[in-house]
Amino acid sequence: MEEEKDIYILAIESSCDETAAAVVRNGREVLSNVISTQIALHTLYGGVVPEIASRKHIEKINQVIEAALKEAGTELRQMDAIAVTYGPGLVGALLVGVSAAKAISFATGIPLVGVHHIEGHISANYIEHKELEPPYVCLVVSGGHSHLVVVKDYGEYEIIGQTRDDAAGEAFDKVARAIGLGYPGGPKIDKVSREGNPDAIAFPRPKLADNVYDFSFSGLKSAVLNYLNGCRMKGEEICQADVAASFQKAVVEVLVEHSMYALREYGYDRFAIAGGVASNSALREAMAGACRENNIRFYYPSPVYCTDNAAMIGVAGYYEYRRGRRSGLDLNAVPNLRLGSKEAF
Ligand code: KG4
Ligand code: ZN
Repeated sequence: MEEEKDIYILAIESSCDETAAAVVRNGREVLSNVISTQIALHTLYGGVVPEIASRKHIEKINQVIEAALKEAGTELRQMDAIAVTYGPGLVGALLVGVSAAKAISFATGIPLVGVHHIEGHISANYIEHKELEPPYVCLVVSGGHSHLVVVKDYGEYEIIGQTRDDAAGEAFDKVARAIGLGYPGGPKIDKVSREGNPDAIAFPRPKLADNVYDFSFSGLKSAVLNYLNGCRMKGEEICQADVAASFQKAVVEVLVEHSMYALREYGYDRFAIAGGVASNSALREAMAGACRENNIRFYYPSPVYCTDNAAMIGVAGYYEYRRGRRSGLDLNAVPNLRLGSKEAF
């Protein structure tokens, strides 16, 4: 019998502040994962400045792609497809990756596959969990998104809950700024919370009456800001670690509660988390405990695959490629792309 041919995907990601490229073999084997982060640059401004992000992507993109091919020990002509994030994200940032991918595809004739950024985050779980296959429930919590998703099949998603206002990561970043921790806030809150008392301040656990799976974090963020203002007015000292830990506990509790409810109601016994906030240590610990109690198998990616990277785009791109999906050279960046959209094909 003829041996199955290996499938190589060159993946490109530039939706926010990381310029990234990777080579992925047969869907789940990461041969290289190169990330050029702009965090230090944006820290000066307390957050991502879209114009600066685009300019940096343009500077770095070719180097990063070359490094990914080299580290993988591969050559461009070996690639079966070029997978690229085409949304959602910052339009100017996305366009850099999309243009690079289109140029490579045009010059070489290698097929182009547009990938949804969130589909990439979800697919990050396949890299280290070879046994994980759909269907399962996934919580995607990143700087721009909080989605509770039923992964019905590769490339087939049902969004059952999402944020009405701030994303989970955005709330982390805003609260971090308010307590003087700076950007990016998530990892810093995670760290200082270890020295704080999570029960020191009773912040609200926002609930929505009309869809129990939806999230809302702006009320919680306001409660933190009000608490800080109150302390300042009364001349009371603010304990940064206690505020961080109490805020983090409130976010984690809401995320755990919504996820466990969804798993029960939809009847799934496998659960994954994804996105930058999925690397939060308190969230991982609380989810692991809740899953143990409820007999649910719990999956999460290593931190490097939680935050933005191109390996996850390569994995998602592989499954789209296997389904026969190809994008034309008219592929455009779509800043508000909906998960499950077939716009690219
Ligand atoms: O997935 P990601 O890299 O970018 C988006 O697609 O948005 O997520 C970045 C977000 C930021 O808001 C960052 O503060 C948050 O993930 N984050 C964390 C942690 N590490 C990153 N939030 C909480 N705890 C962490 N350890
Ligand atoms: Zn992301």
